[in-house]
Amino acid sequence: MLAASPLMALTQGAEPTIHVMKDPNCGCCTAWINILENEGFTVTTEPSAGTLLMRYKMDNGIPQEMVSCHTARIENYMIEGHVPVADIRRLLEERPDAVGLAVPGMPYGSPGMGPESEREAYAVHLVNRDGTTEPFTNYQAA
Ligand code: CU
Ligand code: CU
Repeated sequence: MLAASPLMALTQGAEPTIHVMKDPNCGCCTAWINILENEGFTVTTEPSAGTLLMRYKMDNGIPQEMVSCHTARIENYMIEGHVPVADIRRLLEERPDAVGLAVPGMPYGSPGMGPESEREAYAVHLVNRDGTTEPFTNYQAA
């Protein structure tokens, strides 16, 4: 796993804080947050929903076709939707000049969206500053 790379061992210590904008009535975001907390991240949350949350996504460079439920910020990166912890760690390690990562929609079996053993195929996308995207990680169906 990428998370166990030697580079990570050198940057020991607590993971950085991640700030999550989420609809208070949405449970899948909470399930995703719990996974991050179990992986050592400090998570702060802020209630947001509907047009307000959509505006926040757009203002922060998330393209419409990349939209999911919750939107998070970690350091200077945006994390849209149910992005796996391994990808967040890799983003912070590689530090590309980009907006951040997105998993559009809510793929079944992505973190917080049901058992990984039953997951459907989905991709994590790197969102570039010009609004284009490129594949970051492809997860095969279980
Ligand atoms: Cu969700
Ligand atoms: Cu949710």
